[in-house]
Amino acid sequence: MSKVTVVGAGAVGASCAEYIAMKNFASEVVLVDIKEGVAEGKAMDLLQTSSLNGFDTKITGTTGDYSLTAGSQVAVITSGIPRKPGMTREELIGVNAGIVKSVVSNILQYSPDAIIVVVSNPMDTMTYLVHKVSNLPSNRIIGMGGALDSARFRYRLSEALGCPASDVDGMVIAAHSDTGMLPLISKATWRGVPVSEFLSAEKINYVVEETKTGGATLTKLLGTSAWYAPGAAVSAVVQALLCDQKKLIPCSVLLQGEYGQSDVCAGVPVILGKNGVERIVELELTDAEKEKFASSAAAVKEVNEDLKNVL
Ligand code: LAC
Repeated sequence: MSKVTVVGAGAVGASCAEYIAMKNFASEVVLVDIKEGVAEGKAMDLLQTSSLNGFDTKITGTTGDYSLTAGSQVAVITSGIPRKPGMTREELIGVNAGIVKSVVSNILQYSPDAIIVVVSNPMDTMTYLVHKVSNLPSNRIIGMGGALDSARFRYRLSEALGCPASDVDGMVIAAHSDTGMLPLISKATWRGVPVSEFLSAEKINYVVEETKTGGATLTKLLGTSAWYAPGAAVSAVVQALLCDQKKLIPCSVLLQGEYGQSDVCAGVPVILGKNGVERIVELELTDAEKEKFASSAAAVKEVNEDLKNVL
């Protein structure tokens, strides 16, 4: 029996529930929302696709009844407001911090052993907030940003290379923010061959910039933030945890000396399995990358200062 709770039945939460169900790896997904009837409605709508899409995952929706989430192995927090065009993720902190704090205590009341996956923005700061308010061991708190940003990076690389994204490997580390993201071009490959063998400096720069502003580009087009790739990225993280896959995925985790940082959550490659973060992988970075990582972490720390009101 594998049970996942997804708090927030907005576009990201619902899309995450949909991908989890479609991949058929969980026995139950519980969708929770505070808006009367929304989680129940989306759960019912999704369940009515089960005979068409061939999945057996049970999907339950509830307006705030956390007792239905009891015994979840993984809980995903997507609650809060998304950004509007022109906003940064950091501007959401005032509203989202209070929401995330109360969601964490509701989850842990019924699922004290859950691994928590944080999606709400600003994601690195919300991940840090979950550490501060829950006191859970650091392996059980995971921010999903790097999983999403790396998928966007591989998409942009595949577009520039003219090849399928499945042929491309690449990861984005550091903060999940427009300025703080660090797409690791030095380690990106087309089936093991460095992408610099195929792409000009100008093209590489384009890929990096489009990756960093990937979320903002979509927010401008959609009028709100994206949901398909965020939902799929969360679903991949949840699958790695529930199915004990030992996948290497960049995620935001509490750094305690790794990458020269401490007391901050930022994206780094981690191995995910049934125990949550089973290992933080320390990469050899170039001097320029080290510098960018340090300033990205410093910017997250500055945003974390704004948590004072809720801690
Ligand atoms: C994005 C949001 C989920 O990057 O942060 O689309």
